[in-house]
Amino acid sequence: MAAVSMPVAERRGAAEAVARRVSAPWTAASAAPTVSLDESQVDTGAERGDAVGTVAFEGVGKVYRSAAGEVTALEGIDLAIPAGRIFGIIGRSGAGKSSLLRTINRLEQPTAGRVLVDGQDIALLDTEGLVALRRRIGMIFQHFNLLSAKSVRDNVGLPLLVAGVPRPRIRERVDEVLDLVGLSDKHRTFPSRLSGGQKQRVGIARALVHHPEILLCDEATSALDPETTISILSLLRDINRKLGLTIVLITHEMSVIREICDDVLVLESGRIAETGPVWKVFGDPRHEATRALLSPLTRDLPEDIADRLRASPFPGSETILELRYTGVDGDPDLGQLSTALGSRVRLISAAIDRIDGHAQGRLVLGVHLPPNKAKQASCASGGHLKVLGHVAGDD
Ligand SMILES: Nc1ncnc2c1ncn2[C@@H]1O[C@H](COP(=O)(O)OP(=O)(O)OP(=O)(O)O)[C@@H](O)[C@H]1O
Ligand SMILES: [Mg+2]
Repeated sequence: MAAVSMPVAERRGAAEAVARRVSAPWTAASAAPTVSLDESQVDTGAERGDAVGTVAFEGVGKVYRSAAGEVTALEGIDLAIPAGRIFGIIGRSGAGKSSLLRTINRLEQPTAGRVLVDGQDIALLDTEGLVALRRRIGMIFQHFNLLSAKSVRDNVGLPLLVAGVPRPRIRERVDEVLDLVGLSDKHRTFPSRLSGGQKQRVGIARALVHHPEILLCDEATSALDPETTISILSLLRDINRKLGLTIVLITHEMSVIREICDDVLVLESGRIAETGPVWKVFGDPRHEATRALLSPLTRDLPEDIADRLRASPFPGSETILELRYTGVDGDPDLGQLSTALGSRVRLISAAIDRIDGHAQGRLVLGVHLPPNKAKQASCASGGHLKVLGHVAGDD
């Protein structure tokens, strides 16, 4: 049975992981030493209560040392990524995102702390163990990293060939993964004849050939146009659901995080600025770095209002209010608010979205208010309301 067709529930949990590994005979003895063992002999992490596809960072630090000096890329990272989640990493350029991601498959060695995959300290793995780890962790890249002289089929099958898998099994598995990524008709095509989106699909197929439990994506959609980005994201979401694998992805596109991630980590100068469910972090960003990253998503005030905005009220002025939907503590009660404001409310702009069932965004309202009313209304809104300023009234 191929793991590609296994539902999420089956793949989660250590016992199922055994079944999956044992049922993938071509992951060769060298790739997965557990293959020839019976279930009672396999360390699945079940006794430790670990699920397959978890990553934990404990006090992880990374200092790059070169002739030019030292660069501290990561410091004091304590974080757990649960199995089966889509976990996004964001941060300014140079914040340490790639360094952190690359510690998961030991492409980078931390200079402090530990990285645990399925509860196992990966620094302790010997060469064979490291090879096996890297087969459990697929990776895709911004520029696809395909071999131009090889066909789609050969690009995808290469990791299996290197692992010594018999050719008929390679063909079978390549067919499966190409089918999964929607490229069944492109076996013989060479990368130069593929679109960017198709190349990334090949990259994804190649990353899946070893039935990984974790997929790492470093800016996987950054080289793609918006439409292709959406199709690749929905493929990743599909793969996450169908195969139950954990996806850790770096992106500079906040919309990517909003679209498919369950959780997000914001890195700032190598440290954790904040982390949590996307709806919470995006709805109520606590750190300046998060707010700066999100600013393209939070629409500014309309120009005609912004130009005329004054800090203090003046005779006949209209108060401009911002009503925030953070997804935390429920949605603001518009009826109660309108009663508290006690006068005609004008809607100036609105940008409300829903993430994971939580309303996020803001309304900008104009209202003629006696000075003390704004405060009352703010209380009535449960702190969701803020006075932005005052403009000359329209009437
Ligand atoms: N091999 C290396 N040698 C020395 N310094 C490095 C090395 N790799 C990364 N750095 C430095 O470590 C810091 C973090 O780099 P990293 O590539 O992890 O950032 P990033 O958040 O992925 O940035 P970007 O968004 O630009 O890809 C940066 O200051 C970078 O210059
Ligand atoms: Mg990077």
